[in-house]
Amino acid sequence: MPAREAMNRCIASANQKGGVGKTTTLVNLAAEMASRDFKVLIIDTDPQEASASLRLLGSRKYNRTLVDVLQDEAKPEDTIIPVTKNLDLLPSDARLSVWELNALNEMGREFLFRRALSDFVKTYDYTFIDCPPTLGLIVTNSLMLAREIIVPVSPQELSVVGLTQFSNTVQAIRTTLNHENLRVLGYLLNNVPARGNVYTAVKNAVRKQLGTLVFKTEIPSSSVIPQAELMHQPLLAHDPRHKITELYSALAEEVIARGKR
Ligand SMILES: Nc1ncnc2c1ncn2[C@@H]1O[C@H](COP(=O)(O)OP(=O)(O)OP(=O)(O)O)[C@@H](O)[C@H]1O
Ligand SMILES: [Mg+2]
Repeated sequence: MPAREAMNRCIASANQKGGVGKTTTLVNLAAEMASRDFKVLIIDTDPQEASASLRLLGSRKYNRTLVDVLQDEAKPEDTIIPVTKNLDLLPSDARLSVWELNALNEMGREFLFRRALSDFVKTYDYTFIDCPPTLGLIVTNSLMLAREIIVPVSPQELSVVGLTQFSNTVQAIRTTLNHENLRVLGYLLNNVPARGNVYTAVKNAVRKQLGTLVFKTEIPSSSVIPQAELMHQPLLAHDPRHKITELYSALAEEVIARGKR
């Protein structure tokens, strides 16, 4: 039987605001997609410690990272780490900050992730890119590789100015860098406090302003999220029957459905 052709969706989890749930969303969505028998890759592009690499690997050691791939010193297929069935991770490390500084002077600096990885990501059904909380060159490169963006927003951490800056960046990438196919797949309300909280009004305002661009599923504040993180596990492995795990499953279905539009 001929090999099935990969679906090849490439989705960045991005927002320059820190701590809004970019990594949490990505790790849990990736696990959901892998459990549906899609072949899934996570690319960690965050040089800081709290990124997807630590979240999934804990103290597991690895020799090569994205930086070696970008410097042509390793092939992506020799650098990925199989995490679980159907789920691979291309890890990152702190040297990526130095890479970013050096790359600022390079010709075609916004296309360096594409050059190094665009063929490789085509072998996966889903690639999820974990972005750092900035609007710098790493994020531009990530968005140039991606076709879709999930933007987690937290009602407690909402920055209207920040969201406008983010949309402007996406628009500039679409027009100035000719990446018209890039689109925001959806905004995800994350870390939503219980009803009746002062932030309920903020949440409702986000839904009103962004309309159907906001995913129907929202992820409430829950202690199970930091607990799973401490165990270096996606929720699906940590507590498959938890109601938050079910919400990530619903979110995965929305992501699948929105991809068919
Ligand atoms: N729904 C939630 N309920 C409770 N805690 C949460 C929730 N979502 C995220 N957190 C916690 O908030 C912290 C920040 O989440 P996360 O690391 O996913 O954000 P991030 O946007 O990736 O941060 P950074 O900008 O630093 O990369 C983590 O400790 C995580 O466990
Ligand atoms: Mg993160």
